[in-house]
Amino acid sequence: RAGIVVAIDGPSGSGKSSAARGVARRLELRYLDTGAMYRAITWWMIQVGVPVDDSDEVAARSSEPEIEVGIDPEHPTIAVDGVDVAGPIRSREVTNAVSAVAAVPAVRRRMVEIQRELIGSGGIVVEGRDIGTTVAPKAHVKVYLTAHEEERARRRAAEGLAGAKLELTLTQKEMALRDRKDSSRTTSPLNKAADAVVLDTTELNLQQVIDRICALAGEHA
Ligand code: C5P
Repeated sequence: RAGIVVAIDGPSGSGKSSAARGVARRLELRYLDTGAMYRAITWWMIQVGVPVDDSDEVAARSSEPEIEVGIDPEHPTIAVDGVDVAGPIRSREVTNAVSAVAAVPAVRRRMVEIQRELIGSGGIVVEGRDIGTTVAPKAHVKVYLTAHEEERARRRAAEGLAGAKLELTLTQKEMALRDRKDSSRTTSPLNKAADAVVLDTTELNLQQVIDRICALAGEHA
């Protein structure tokens, strides 16, 4: 399966990253986290003082930062102009600003171009929001991961600083808002590809999700 492309899309907290990375490791494929790229360019916009809601300004400056993504599933990396930003791109500030930046067509054009270059002749698992619909519409395997909203928020809160109840409520609100923005934007919104297999992960553990996707890829590990 050297040339296979596995596209994994879905809303935040649906378990995409862990699943995509796990599948790539098991099937010895490369792994591309496209969300990290949108987060990285958002981080840069905040650093240089571009108001993220000013879409004209975001568009005008979108070609300035150099975004470098490492696609080894054992050590995924993300850097902007040579600076490792793996930590800072997960901050709440970036998380709450990313949807606005990712909605700007000039940003998407640039990211999709880099993504297609990295996908190249395949052998890769790609996760995001528009992989099966826009980035790799000919992907061999397309999975749309979902989970109940409360469960997704619980997972996100558990990843974060504290799992306190207050935190959970806030996370759920912020997540719902981000999903609403990602689903309602004009340019390649979060959407299930017509030929994608829907996998509800609410009642599944990570290994079960990985098993299902690997089975779809024709690999019975
Ligand atoms: O997957 P993650 O939560 O890291 O994605 C962060 C944000 O990047 C999403 O909320 C969305 O706004 C944007 N994104 C996107 N298209 C992708 C991947 C992520 O618009 N393919």
